[in-house]
Parts: sequence; C-alpha cells; structure tokens
Amino acid sequence: MPTSTSIHPVLDQAPTTESFRKATLRGLRKNQKRVPSKFLYDERGSKLFDAICELDEYYPTRTEIGIMRENVSAMAEAIGPAARLVEYGSGSSLKTRILLERMGEDLATYVPVDISKRHLLESAEALAEDHPAVPIQPVCADYTASFELPESPRPARRTVGYYPGSTIGNFPRAQARAFLSQIADTTGPDGGLLIGVDLKKDVDVMTTAYDDAEGVTAAFSKNLLRRMNQELNATFDLDAFEHQVRWNEARGCVESHLRSTIAQSVTVAGESFAFEEGETIHTEDSHKYTLEGFASLAAETGFEVESVWTDDRSYFSVQYCTTSPDSA
Ligand code: AVJ
Repeated sequence: MPTSTSIHPVLDQAPTTESFRKATLRGLRKNQKRVPSKFLYDERGSKLFDAICELDEYYPTRTEIGIMRENVSAMAEAIGPAARLVEYGSGSSLKTRILLERMGEDLATYVPVDISKRHLLESAEALAEDHPAVPIQPVCADYTASFELPESPRPARRTVGYYPGSTIGNFPRAQARAFLSQIADTTGPDGGLLIGVDLKKDVDVMTTAYDDAEGVTAAFSKNLLRRMNQELNATFDLDAFEHQVRWNEARGCVESHLRSTIAQSVTVAGESFAFEEGETIHTEDSHKYTLEGFASLAAETGFEVESVWTDDRSYFSVQYCTTSPDSA
C-alpha cells in the first residue's frame, strides 16, 4: 500500500474550548485550585513534553524504551497476530515504533488516539512513511471520555490497548480503575493491554524527575497559564508563578503545582480569582505503583496481569494484561 493511503481520515473528537473553559472555572473555584492535567497537552505542551522526555532527570522514558527494546519479541508474542493496536495518548508514537518495527504487518491496524490534532497527524504521517504496509487510523479525541473506534480495514483477531509512559499515573486510583475498565470494555473478551507503569523508588529520584535544572518542566506547567491567557482571556502574569513539586506519601504520587509568588488577583473568562502569596494551582499528579499494587488494581477492572518486564533497578515496568477469553 502506498504511503499516502495507509493513513485513514482522522476522526476529530477533540475537546472544545468550551469544555476547557468549564473545567478550568470549576477547578479554580475550589479551595485547592486545580486544572485537569489533560489540558497541559495542547500543541505547545505536547512539544514541551517531548523535550521533557529527553532530560537527564526524567528517567521514565529512557527506562521504558530500554525495557521495550529488550523484550519486544516477548511482547509481540503476547499480543499475537492480526491485532488491532489502540494507543491511548499516542503523542509522538516513539515507543510504538519499537513495536511496529518488530510486528509490522502482523498488525491488522494501528489506531493512535491523541488530544492534540497537529501532533497526532504529524506523528501518524511520519510513521506511515516508515511502515507503509500498516493501516494507520488516527483518532483525535480525549480518550478519557468515551470515543468511537474506526472500523478496522483488515479483520482483527483481538483488540489490544497500548498505554505507555506511565500516563496511568495521571489518574488517582479510583479514576485509574475506571479508565482501565473502560479499556477492558473497548477490547472486549480476549483483549489485551500493554501498559507502562512507573514504580515507587527513592523520593529524590522521583521528585527530581519533575523538577529539572533547565526548567523545561516548569515551562511545560506554565504553558497552562499561557493557554488560559490565550483561549480563556485570562490575565495570568507568568513571572508571578513558579513551578513546584511535592511527593505526597499518603497518595503515593508526585504532585505538580503552580505557586503564586505574590498576593494577586487574576481574571479568567470574565471571572476573578484571588491568590494569596504561596497559594497554588494543582496541575498534575504522577502516581507511582508497586507491582502488587498495580496487579490488584488491574484485577478489579477485568484485566489480569500476565507478564511484567522491568529494568535492572526496578524503576519502571511494562506489563501485559489480558481480559478473559469468554465474555461471561
Ligand atoms: C505523561 C503523565 C506520564 O507524569 O511522568 C512529566 C507527565 N509531567 N513531567 C508523568 C509529566 C511533567 C508524565 N506523564
């Protein structure tokens, strides 16, 4: 199949400015102000996130890629032939390339799903160039909401979710459970899920990963303020906020905040919000798991952990989970 035809038309189910406005206002009215982390990933945010993945301090990407490279044959075998691979939050599809290089035409189709349309299309095009024989069906959607899957152009024997990057860590446990259940519903019986899960480790290692010396992560966080200024007519002074990272032991997660360095008042979509000096907007959670903790979470959602691959320091894990073959 020629390159130009292996990309199927994008289904555009991207969230609207209206949903950004609503969620933001709701979050800013809370006692602990917050904005849902999915809004960090507009076009600029997605590019900054790619830069984060290259940082020395940010160990997850590098570690996960190493685990993928070393175990891709076993992963391909677990997934099996003629699968429909659905990637949740595909971004640059960097890790997918490792799978595609090994599985290539073995896949019935590859469905990258991402919230950032331009980023999604650019990566899909680059991928199609290198893998002209694999149908690629990009879907622009907020994958945490329900979205429609396009029909596979080739018969698929099973649907397998791919959720790398420990993005599952963005969800508190209850939401992670709900999201895994949603994936299990999508794959149906005899489905699979290949998922990257970051593991608990030394607190300094975990927090430094979100507080790099160059300030790339700070720029990524502050992009949310820029985005509110541009899209919601907000009046944030980016120099009056600073990026702040905390390990929350009780919740088992690294929290990212934007801290107001002065007492100030900011307008967002016509509504005024007061900040005390030191008050924060909570922007992101990065939950960390133990192997046991993740296995028991998965078991509550219809998935069973079948294989776990990890690095020699046990910093990160890639896990293959399955739903039972009969629908009962
Ligand atoms: C994309 C959610 C996996 O939590 O490690 C990285 C996001 N934010 N640095 C993470 C992130 C700041 C990342 N995830």
